[in-house]
Amino acid sequence: MKILAIIASPRGMHGNTGRLLDEVLAGVEKSGAETEILSLKTLNVLPCVACDVCHKTGFCNINDDYEVIKEKLLACDGFILASPNYIFSVTAQMKALFDRCNGLIHCMALEGKYAAMVETSGGGGDDEVLSYLSRFTNTLGANSVGGVGSPIAGVRTFPDEENLYAKARNLGQELCQSIKDKRVYTGQDGFREEFKLRMSGLVDMMKEYWPFEREYWSKKL
Ligand SMILES: Cc1cc2nc3c(=O)[nH]c(=O)nc-3n(C[C@H](O)[C@H](O)[C@H](O)COP(=O)(O)O)c2cc1C
Repeated sequence: MKILAIIASPRGMHGNTGRLLDEVLAGVEKSGAETEILSLKTLNVLPCVACDVCHKTGFCNINDDYEVIKEKLLACDGFILASPNYIFSVTAQMKALFDRCNGLIHCMALEGKYAAMVETSGGGGDDEVLSYLSRFTNTLGANSVGGVGSPIAGVRTFPDEENLYAKARNLGQELCQSIKDKRVYTGQDGFREEFKLRMSGLVDMMKEYWPFEREYWSKKL
């Protein structure tokens, strides 16, 4: 089993979010899964330029690291999205990646995969960011197994650290168990079904212009 962790802090794994992600990954490793960390600090993911090439061909034309990340997302069993809270949302690095995933979203190409969320903040608002990360996961077609988030208590420290780290390690194990059990998250089905109708409808409306996505949906439905 392969779990891919994407961390979007400009501090890479050396910041607060990296510290919390370490605990989630400890849970993943305890379950026997293989892990890989992709840090957007060192990878180059430029903003989407709305050229629509991905919708037409299935590939992005921008020459940077996005296609490598995309292939790794398509190949993994589960993934972890980790970001600090930047103004009630994710970092610009993470948002750039999300926008570049537009083609994957149109195809809901990660259907059947599972994901966990990690967030840290200076002073709170954690649930808002975790639920955004979760919704993004659902738009890709994947299941969100849950998230862990916390304000900090100092550099790479958190209030009630023992409980937080136990929760984080448990989340890593839950992620792997969900994959093993092919767990069904019925609470997310409504959103996903509605989103599926929306995406398949959009691609149908644009069928003359977006041949790759038209083909994708004709095989999927
Ligand atoms: C540009 C910027 C914006 C931030 N916005 C918020 C915010 O809106 N709310 C909050 O609680 N903390 C905010 N913070 C604090 C970070 O979320 C917090 O320090 C986080 O733990 C940093 O994680 P890192 O060390 O992994 O980068 C912000 C920090 C920066 C640099």
